[in-house]
Amino acid sequence: MKRHNALQLRGVGKTFDGFQALQQADFLVRWGEVHALLGENGAGKSTLMNIAAGLYAPETGELLVDDNPVRLRGPADAARLHIGMVHQHFKLVRPFSVAENVLLGLPAGQGSHRRRLAEISERIRQQAAALGFAIRPEQRVAELSIAEQQRVEILKVLLAGARILILDEPTAVLTDGEGERLLETLRALSAEGAAVVLVTHRMQDALTYADRLTVMRGGRTLRSLDPAEVSVDELVRLTVGDAQPLADTPRRAAGAPLLTVRGLRTPERGGRRALDGIDLELRAGEIYGIAGVGGNGQGELADVLMGLPQPYEGEVRLEGFGDLAAAASARRRDLRIAAIPADRYGSALAGGLSVADNFAIGAVHSGRFGGLARLDRRAQEEATQAAVTQFDVQGVRSVRQKAALLSGGNAQKLVIAREFGREPRLVLAHSPSRGLDVRAGAEVQARLLAAREAGAAVLLISEDLDEVLALADRIGVMSAGRLVAEFQRPADRQAIGHAMVNHA
Ligand SMILES: Nc1ncnc2c1ncn2[C@@H]1O[C@H](COP(=O)(O)OP(=O)(O)OP(=O)(O)O)[C@@H](O)[C@H]1O
Ligand SMILES: [Mg+2]
Repeated sequence: MKRHNALQLRGVGKTFDGFQALQQADFLVRWGEVHALLGENGAGKSTLMNIAAGLYAPETGELLVDDNPVRLRGPADAARLHIGMVHQHFKLVRPFSVAENVLLGLPAGQGSHRRRLAEISERIRQQAAALGFAIRPEQRVAELSIAEQQRVEILKVLLAGARILILDEPTAVLTDGEGERLLETLRALSAEGAAVVLVTHRMQDALTYADRLTVMRGGRTLRSLDPAEVSVDELVRLTVGDAQPLADTPRRAAGAPLLTVRGLRTPERGGRRALDGIDLELRAGEIYGIAGVGGNGQGELADVLMGLPQPYEGEVRLEGFGDLAAAASARRRDLRIAAIPADRYGSALAGGLSVADNFAIGAVHSGRFGGLARLDRRAQEEATQAAVTQFDVQGVRSVRQKAALLSGGNAQKLVIAREFGREPRLVLAHSPSRGLDVRAGAEVQARLLAAREAGAAVLLISEDLDEVLALADRIGVMSAGRLVAEFQRPADRQAIGHAMVNHA
């Protein structure tokens, strides 16, 4: 089948404060295809697609839609040309309803707000039904899970008329099952003629679902190729060079219990509890992995343990301290608790603050930089710079620049640099390698192993079963808010899979 060109970028260049983020980048997606855009953290994928969506103006090069040169002065121009983008970090207004958010994506129209809201609500219901999304227009965005919010973003661009759909790492925030469903949806949309760009770090997804691939490196588009031409290994080599295989150290017996969780429950909502009686003992020098199908309480468990807002009953005791509920976030850092939440921008970073300030959030309270009142700015900046170098956080021209300007994966590396900077005694990690390129992901996994080696207790909550199998000494399977089975290393993949679904 001959496919016609939908969107093309030619010779695109873009600098940020003198930093060349894109250089002579070329990209072409055709109608009726899913096109995967790959490349290491900071390669320029989001920047290139932000240009395609009218958010940034390129300094050199041109954009063509249906082979016609176009100029986008903003996202509204892109929308008129049926280009819509779902961003790496969602842009929904949380206190608003689904319908209000979708309405915000449409040009101003006729009629009263109420009437338009009623109309758009009907269209949302239809579109959601067509895609199999369980989303209701009157729901408030703040009450939706990440996966649901993403569906709202997709509905929003589709209802704004997008036929060229760009999704920036959409599966990075989803569980495996949710991700697969989304990728099937994208395939269906392309089968109906849409042009779909999928930015992803998951090589296997790209090979399975894409009709065409483009690899970026260092602001350039390296190559475009056919999925049939390459293997996962070759793609990894193309994107990040040679990734080091995970070097596991010999495992020692775990030490004394460090964290004890008893009878953890969250309040009943709609006849069920997200956490319904969790008992868990985490020992020094072990990695305890929590596996399970996403949405079985993992997020709530992480929130409770990390001290994020989440009402609960039961007890979380840290050896030598007592009830963790009483510990403010400052105190947690003194206790050398490292927390890597799944939602980095929501809970771990303040995008509007500088890289150095974000880094210092972890140290100010401890007095390391002179306390809040007289922050030793120089020391803070130097320490940040050292950590940025050590943890290979790329794209930091100055530690005074805003954290929001980092690429998604590099923002995540900053969180990890901060949290691992103080030799943690307890590590709480929720999907820590998500959104990282293959090499950076392996580095994070190596850090978890090193923390265990240094005697820390590590709780690894991850919906990536391979990650859990590779790292954990013990594995608890979570289902419907409970730990329904426990396995010792080396654990049988099939048996775990069985436990995951049989209790669901
Ligand atoms: N608004 C901005 N201001 C300054 N620098 C920026 C801005 N946006 C992106 N950059 C820089 O441009 C480079 C490319 O970033 P981009 O977000 O496009 O990477 P990416 O390929 O999407 O990476 P990731 O996989 O981590 O999301 C990075 O070094 C980033 O720090
Ligand atoms: Mg990106």
